[in-house]
Amino acid sequence: MFFRNLVWHPVLVICLLVIQRGFCVPLDKIHTRTSVEIQAQAVTDLIGRLLPGRANEFDVKVEPGLPGEENGYFQIEKVSGNATVFVRGSTGVMAAWGFHYYLTQFCHCQVSWDTDQLNLPAVLPDVSVRITSLDKLRYYQNTCTVSYSFAWFQWPRWEREIDWMAMNGINLPLAFTGQEIIWQRVYLGLGLVQADLDEHFSGPAFFAWQRMGNFRGWGGPLSDNWHQATLALQHKILERMRAFGMIPVLPAFAGHVPRAMERVYPNTSYTYLTPWVTFEDQYCCPLFVQPTEPLFTEIGTRFIQEMIAEFGTDHVYNCDVFNEVPPTQSDPDFVSSVGASVYSAMATTDPDAIWLMQGWLFKSEAAYWTPELSKALLTSVPQGRMLVLDLQAEINPQYIRLESFYGQPFVFCLLHNFGGTLGLNGAIPTISDRVIDARNFPNSTMVGTGLTMEGINQNYIVYDKMLEMGWRNQAPDLNQWYDEYTVRRYGVDSSAIKSAWRILQTSVYNDTSGRSFHGQYLLTDRPALFKFPFIWYNSRDVILAWDSFIASALTEPMLSEAPNFRHDVIDVTRQSMSEIFSQLYGRLLVTYCDKNVTALGEVARHMIDLLQDLDNLLQTGPKFLLGKWISDAKSWGVTEGEILQYEWNARNQITLWGPRGEILDYATKQWAGVVADYYKPRWEVFIRELEITIEENRRFNSTAYQSMVFNAVEKPFTFSTKIYPVVETGE
Ligand SMILES: *[C@@H]1O[C@H](CO)[C@@H](O)[C@H](O)[C@H]1NC(C)=O
Ligand SMILES: *[C@@H]1O[C@H](CO)[C@@H](O)[C@H](O)[C@H]1NC(C)=O
Ligand SMILES: *[C@@H]1O[C@H](CO)[C@@H](O)[C@H](O)[C@H]1NC(C)=O
Ligand SMILES: *[C@@H]1O[C@H](CO)[C@@H](O)[C@H](O)[C@H]1NC(C)=O
Ligand SMILES: *[C@@H]1O[C@H](CO)[C@@H](O)[C@H](O)[C@H]1NC(C)=O
Ligand SMILES: *[C@@H]1O[C@H](CO)[C@@H](O)[C@H](O)[C@H]1NC(C)=O
Repeated sequence: MFFRNLVWHPVLVICLLVIQRGFCVPLDKIHTRTSVEIQAQAVTDLIGRLLPGRANEFDVKVEPGLPGEENGYFQIEKVSGNATVFVRGSTGVMAAWGFHYYLTQFCHCQVSWDTDQLNLPAVLPDVSVRITSLDKLRYYQNTCTVSYSFAWFQWPRWEREIDWMAMNGINLPLAFTGQEIIWQRVYLGLGLVQADLDEHFSGPAFFAWQRMGNFRGWGGPLSDNWHQATLALQHKILERMRAFGMIPVLPAFAGHVPRAMERVYPNTSYTYLTPWVTFEDQYCCPLFVQPTEPLFTEIGTRFIQEMIAEFGTDHVYNCDVFNEVPPTQSDPDFVSSVGASVYSAMATTDPDAIWLMQGWLFKSEAAYWTPELSKALLTSVPQGRMLVLDLQAEINPQYIRLESFYGQPFVFCLLHNFGGTLGLNGAIPTISDRVIDARNFPNSTMVGTGLTMEGINQNYIVYDKMLEMGWRNQAPDLNQWYDEYTVRRYGVDSSAIKSAWRILQTSVYNDTSGRSFHGQYLLTDRPALFKFPFIWYNSRDVILAWDSFIASALTEPMLSEAPNFRHDVIDVTRQSMSEIFSQLYGRLLVTYCDKNVTALGEVARHMIDLLQDLDNLLQTGPKFLLGKWISDAKSWGVTEGEILQYEWNARNQITLWGPRGEILDYATKQWAGVVADYYKPRWEVFIRELEITIEENRRFNSTAYQSMVFNAVEKPFTFSTKIYPVVETGE
C-alpha cells in the first residue's frame, strides 16, 4: 500500500501529472544550478555579440514558469510606442530560445552554424507571445561530432557554437573537450607510465573512436601542450554552458583501458575486443575490463572523482559500453550485471548520476539486441537514472520495437549526417510527423528532441526543421514553411528563389527511401569500374534547381548580396557538377567496354576539366576550403612536430581515415584543395590505367590499381604540407 503512506510532496504531484505523457521521477535532478541573474546576463551578452548595435533594445529576465510550464517557457513582449522587446524565460536557454524565436518568426532572420542573416527592421515588430516547451530536453551532438566538426575549434568558435545552441533551446549538450588529461591522471595514478598512454591516446582528429574503444593510438600521441590547452578550453566551455543554464554532459568510464593495464593488474579478467573495421593489431583492440570486475568500479570511480574535482558536475554522464561491439555473451543476467556495474561506477561517487546512453547499439547491432537483451540492459538501472538517445529516430526509431525503452526516458534524435559529408539530402516531410508520433506513442517516455549528426555545416534546412519541433506540436504546411525559410535565409522575399527551392523540396529533400545516407558520390569515391550509386531523386531536378537559382539572382539582384545565397549557389552548383560527373562516368564505362581509347580520352578530358572547374568554384566560398580546416588544425600546434601531426590528422580523417584507408573516404569533403589534389589525381590515375589496359589488351587489375592509387595519390596527400588559401578567392 505504497500510496497510502505517501506524503504529497510537490515534486510528486508534478510527477503524477507529467506521467500522463513523458517521464518524470528522478529526471528532476536535471536542472540548472546557476542563478537567474547570471543566466539573464549570459543572454544579454549573447544578444550583444549577435546584434552589437541593437542589444539595448532587448530586456532579458529569467523567471520561473507557472504551474504546467515545468518543461520551460519563453515570453516575448513588445508594444508599439515602446522600443524595448521584453524577453522572459524560465532559464537562460529558454530566454535565448525566445529571442531566436522572435528573430526568426517575427523579424524573418536566420542564425545558422556559420552564417547569419540579421537584416532587422529599423523599428522592431510588436509581439506578445508565450510559448511552453513541449519536452523537458533538447539534446545536441553525436559522440563523433567532436571529431568530425569540433576537432580544431578554439574558444571563439566554441563561443559561437554555444550561442547557437542556446538560441535553439539546446539544454543538454555533450561537453567532451579536455577529457584525455583526466584519463591520464587516473591511469598514472593507477601505476601506468607515460609510454603506456602514448600508445593508447589517439590524435585529436580521432578521439571519438578511441574514447569508444574502437581503436587506440591512431594519430597520437598527445603532448602536454595539448592537454593544458584543452583543459583551459573545457573550463571556458563549461562555464559558458552553465551560465546559460545548460546541463553539460560529461563522459564516464565504459571499460576500455590501455593494454598496459594487463601488466599492472594481471589478476583482472580482460577481454580483447575484436578488431573494429579492419584496423591492424598495432591500432585496434584496446583491452576491455569486464564491468563486473572490481577494477572496473575502481577506474570508473576514480575517473568521475578526478573529473568532478576539476570541472564540477551537472550529474549527467555519457557512457557507451557496447558501441558497435556487442558483448561476448547473449545472457540477460550478464547484460544486466554489466548495466548495473556501469551505473554503480557513476553513482558511487555521484548519487544523483544519470547515465546517458546513445541508443545506436539497438539499431546498429539489432540482431544481437533482441527485446529480451535490450530490456535486461535498460532495466538494469533504476527508472529515470538512464536516459536513452534514440539516435536515428527520424528513419529507424527504436522506441517502438523496445516499448518506449521499457520505461526509461528517451530523446528523439535526428542523426541525418554521417562523417560531416556535404551533399544535399534529407527527408524533410516526415521529420515533424515522426516527432509527433513519438510524443503520442502509448505510454511514451519521450522527454526531448535532439540532433545527433556526425558533422555540422551542411543541409541547414533539415536541422531548422527538427529544431522547431521543440515547440511545434503540429506539422507546418510544408510549402509555406519552405517559402518562409527562403525569406529568413536570404533576407529577401523573392518568388523566383521560392520556386528554385520548390524543386529541391520535391527531390533531394524528399528522400522516401528510408536508407541512411552516407554522402559519398562517384567523384569522391575511390574510382572503380561499374559503380552504381543509389539516389532517390532525378538528378535532372538538381540541375533544374541550379538553373533556377542562377535565374533568381538575375530577377532579384539583392539575392546576390546575401551571404547565404552565395553559399547556396555554390552548394547547388557543386551538387549539379557532381550529378554531371556521374553521367560522364556512365559514358566513360561505355567507351571502355567499346575499347575505344580515342572516345575514352574525350570523355576523360571532360571529367578532369569538370573536377578542376569544381575546385575553382569551391575556392569562391568561405565554407568550402581545405585551407581553413588545415590551418585550424595547425593553430593548435606549439612545436614544429605538433603542427605536422595535427595537419596530418586533419588530412587523414577526411581521406584515408586510417593508416591504409580503413574507412576510406567516409568523411569525404567536397572542398577546394581536396578536389584538385586528391579526387582529381585519383581519377587521372584510374583513367590512365583504363587506357593502358585497352592498349595492352588485358583485364583491369583492380588490386594493382588500388595499391597504385594509394601510393601515388592518397597516402602522399595525407602527409603533404602544401599550403591552401584560408579565405575565398574569385567570383
Ligand atoms: C516601456 O515599457 C516598460 C514596461 O512597461 C516601461 O517600464 C518603460 O518605461 C516603457 N518605456 C517607454 C519609453 O515607454
Ligand atoms: C595475482 O595473484 C597471484 C596469485 O594469487 C598473487 O601471487 C599475485 O600477488 C597477484 N598479483 C597482483 C599484482 O595482485
Ligand atoms: C500503458 O500503461 C498502462 C498502465 O500501466 C497499461 O494499462 C497499458 O496497457 C499501457 N498501454 C500500452 C499500449 O502499452
Ligand atoms: C515525396 O515523395 C512521396 C513519394 O514519392 C510523394 O508522395 C510526396 O508527395 C512527395 N512530397 C514532396 C513534398 O515532394
Ligand atoms: C572511337 O571513338 C571516336 C570518337 O568518338 C570515333 O570517331 C570512332 O569512330 C570510334 N572508333 C570505333 C572503332 O568505334
Ligand atoms: C593483379 O595485381 C596483383 C598485385 O600487383 C598481382 O599480385 C596479381 O597477380 C595481378 N592479377 C592479375 C590477374 O594479373
